[in-house]
Amino acid sequence: MNSIQAVAESYRLFNPKAYLQNNYVPPRADFSREDSVMCWKLRCLHEACAKGEINGCTLVDIGSGPTIYQLLSAFENFKDVIMTDYLEVNREELKKWLKKEPGTFDWSPYFEHVCKLEGKGEPWQDKQKRFRERVTRVIPVDIHQSCPLGKELVSGSVDCLVSSFCLEACSPDLEAFQKALENITGILKPQGHLLLIGALEESYYLAGEARLSVVPVTEEVVKKALCTAKCVIREFCTYSMTPSMKVGVDDVSGIFFVWAQKKDHK
Ligand SMILES: C[S@@+](CC[C@H](N)C(=O)[O-])C[C@H]1O[C@@H](n2cnc3c(N)ncnc32)[C@H](O)[C@@H]1O
Repeated sequence: MNSIQAVAESYRLFNPKAYLQNNYVPPRADFSREDSVMCWKLRCLHEACAKGEINGCTLVDIGSGPTIYQLLSAFENFKDVIMTDYLEVNREELKKWLKKEPGTFDWSPYFEHVCKLEGKGEPWQDKQKRFRERVTRVIPVDIHQSCPLGKELVSGSVDCLVSSFCLEACSPDLEAFQKALENITGILKPQGHLLLIGALEESYYLAGEARLSVVPVTEEVVKKALCTAKCVIREFCTYSMTPSMKVGVDDVSGIFFVWAQKKDHK
């Protein structure tokens, strides 16, 4: 078995509900604390999207997992939003939430928080309704394929990509991480936008019975990888995990947020 196959094998035990519980409730997602990691991530995404440059027809989220928070600012600026994951359990979790089935995760505090950041006084329920209407597909993805979304979305067809905690969490080594970044940015149009969030210096995380290995990356490694993938960095910010954000479900030391743009062909 090669190492990419070994990573795929390790994901067979991934439990979406345990993953959500580990990362997407307080203290990591405590909206009463501006210094919580979730407030930081949502602020970075909001500020980049509020600049008015990130817009177009198609927005694709790579490796969505069972989460939607990563799209709550960007989705407003696109006609068609596509969510993706490698695992059927995650795609099913998302589809159930989109169809308002009972027993799914409650994302309402996230919608409320993003509405507050936008400051328009809009009821969060309106944003949630619009989000459910805007996501048109939840499809399979494999970042290790040269066409990660197969024939559905070909090279140079997408205006914006979002991806959070996927590349480093699904790559066995830095070489695979680099290649995966090149594979996903390959579907971007020239000057298309990339909003990338990831873990710094992490070696593993837990999701129920699953213990997933992560390739540890530094700020310098991510910046160099983007440059090699012919992406120009517009913004790069980092967050250091404070002791209260360390909850025993991983060994992450920080988070990075990048807004980058794919270079022109010229
Ligand atoms: C750490 S989770 C990130 C989930 C979510 N984006 C978030 O922000 O929490 C990593 C995700 O990558 C997915 N994944 C695993 N192998 C993959 C592959 N080869 N290509 C794309 N995604 C993959 C997993 O199923 C999982 O949902």
